[in-house]
Amino acid sequence: MVPAFPRSLAAVLMILCCCNSQLVVDYDIALFNGEVSRLATLVWLSPAYCLFEKWVEQRGGELTMRSSASVQVELLREDNATFVLPQRYSVPFCNDFSPKPAAVSTPLAYQMGPNVACIDGSCIEHVLPGQRFRVRYIIYSVSEEALVTTKWSAPIATRDDPPSYSSIDADTTPRSGAMVVITTVLVVALFLLLLGFASMLAARSKFAR
Ligand SMILES: *[C@@H]1O[C@H](CO)[C@@H](O)[C@H](O)[C@H]1NC(C)=O
Repeated sequence: MVPAFPRSLAAVLMILCCCNSQLVVDYDIALFNGEVSRLATLVWLSPAYCLFEKWVEQRGGELTMRSSASVQVELLREDNATFVLPQRYSVPFCNDFSPKPAAVSTPLAYQMGPNVACIDGSCIEHVLPGQRFRVRYIIYSVSEEALVTTKWSAPIATRDDPPSYSSIDADTTPRSGAMVVITTVLVVALFLLLLGFASMLAARSKFAR
């Protein structure tokens, strides 16, 4: 029978899917505070709020596992190199109104940069201006089993825009101040040099007389 093979194949695929305990979900990875969160070598990301709850909801996981689970942030650079943030985070509560054990410190934002680690921990690389990364969050259980993974986000870029006029002003004021000092020192030095030269000439002409 012709349809038998595809049907068994489908069964095998289904078993494979079910055995793979990792859940991949749609999740909106957002900047922590809009455009302000994008800097030249660093981007602030909103923490993985409610991602753990998605796993609990869809896989019947246990809420009690929250305190031992951790969030890893993975990054996919434009050249397809993969990195992770050097730090794991505790699983945040779904909203700010949930009661929190005092011991749990959840950062307000995840700091992507200025350094990111190679996925195997063998290197550290710098985040550069105008670089684009796709981001995904993975929640690991205490036994390092990936419980839930988000899909890769749209590319998130660090800032690479020319500085605004106000920042140019702020940048160049101290510099032009230093320039004035250097110019003054040079002028004085030149004046002293000429003075020395002139007195040397005067002394020599007096000597010659
Ligand atoms: C990255 O991977 C994607 C999909 O595998 C491929 O289309 C793309 O050309 C790769 N980019 C680079 C820079 O290798």
